[in-house]
Amino acid sequence: MLTVTAEDVDSNEVRRACSRLFSLESVESDRFLENLDLEMVKKAYREHAKTCHPDAQCSISGGSGAESFLNIQRSYEVLTSYLERRAKESLHAVARERKIIAVGGAKGGIGKSIFAANLSVVLASKGFKTVAVDLDLGGANLHLYLGNRAILKRSINDFLKKRVNTLQELVVESGHGPLLIGGDSSELGAANIEFSKKLRLLKAVKNIEADYVVLDLGGDTSYNIVDFFNLADYTIVLTTLDTVSYISSYHFMKAAIYRKLNRLFGTESKFRDEREADLERLVREVTMAPDGPKIKSIGDLIERVREDQPMNLSILVRALQDFNPCLVVNRVEKEADIGPVVMKIQDVSKKWLSKEVTYLGSISAQREITESVKALVPTVAKYPRGRLATELEAIFQNLIRSR
Ligand SMILES: Nc1ncnc2c1ncn2[C@@H]1O[C@H](COP(=O)(O)OP(=O)(O)OP(=O)(O)O)[C@@H](O)[C@H]1O
Ligand SMILES: [Mg+2]
Repeated sequence: MLTVTAEDVDSNEVRRACSRLFSLESVESDRFLENLDLEMVKKAYREHAKTCHPDAQCSISGGSGAESFLNIQRSYEVLTSYLERRAKESLHAVARERKIIAVGGAKGGIGKSIFAANLSVVLASKGFKTVAVDLDLGGANLHLYLGNRAILKRSINDFLKKRVNTLQELVVESGHGPLLIGGDSSELGAANIEFSKKLRLLKAVKNIEADYVVLDLGGDTSYNIVDFFNLADYTIVLTTLDTVSYISSYHFMKAAIYRKLNRLFGTESKFRDEREADLERLVREVTMAPDGPKIKSIGDLIERVREDQPMNLSILVRALQDFNPCLVVNRVEKEADIGPVVMKIQDVSKKWLSKEVTYLGSISAQREITESVKALVPTVAKYPRGRLATELEAIFQNLIRSR
């Protein structure tokens, strides 16, 4: 029996194998290989094998029956291996699809923009096409942290005011690796966008061409901010070790998960095509009642759905599984202080949100950061082998392992 592994197959062999199993005219057409699938190969093999079996005395290309049969068999193996490799490659291409990373946390000044800017530089330095997007519409400064001193000629406001049709038209070079889509909060009302504009923006962010899109968010729990957060494939919540900051980080996650449930069947949701009116009503009733939520925890909601509408439980469970906030602790002075804070956040999230929050790592408080902020240069561009670069690398590795 001949054995052909996927790696052995070259394109000439594939063409030869096709010409043995299929008619010459079809093989010559450009679309033939594109449309070739396993069923076609099996069918052609069965037909030829019947007539070319050594007992059937046939001959292809002038060879003996046995030789022809071996050729048919080899062609079959070449083509099945080729299709196997093609399937693997397309899986790999899916894995390389653009990923959106959102950086949130419900407190100002904790380092979200520094983190987003420097993570973007790290990703770009790895060869990923990276676009950093300033979605802190009311406090846009990502361009400064990325080293763009000049006032931006184009900003997200141009998209919101329909002066351009796509976010792609706003992309500028940051000068340190990543591309940038910047904001301009100097325009009055920049942060107060209407719902329809926000939906348009959410859709446009999903269409940005890149390997990684990094979203820098504002520091509160307004609907706009949590909607941008919930849009991402990877969601990072930043906190410092101070009490207000870590309590706010939990509040941010709570707001985001409740909002995700409220918008379970919204046009921007992955679950929009699975709309179940009963579930939609119940979720709204219990999470958005005018006098406050009617449930104490996400666990209570799961129980209500399990009891009242078990047929909808799977949608709820899948939506909750789709929410995976990860935690990064910034401005750490003493490593020993990290553990207790991370545990507190993880414990309350587990108890009230039924969520295991993944801890990705920490960033130390460092002079390199304050100095480079003053000089308007991303820290990791100034110190590519410095402490922040090492810390961000570890965080990135944990992030991609988190899903
Ligand atoms: N690890 C760190 N070490 C030293 N300084 C830091 C560190 N992280 C942040 N900073 C300082 O904190 C300041 C605020 O950071 P940044 O602007 O990134 O916060 P933010 O969370 O984005 O705030 P906002 O919500 O207002 O946008 C920076 O100017 C920087 O000097
Ligand atoms: Mg910021």
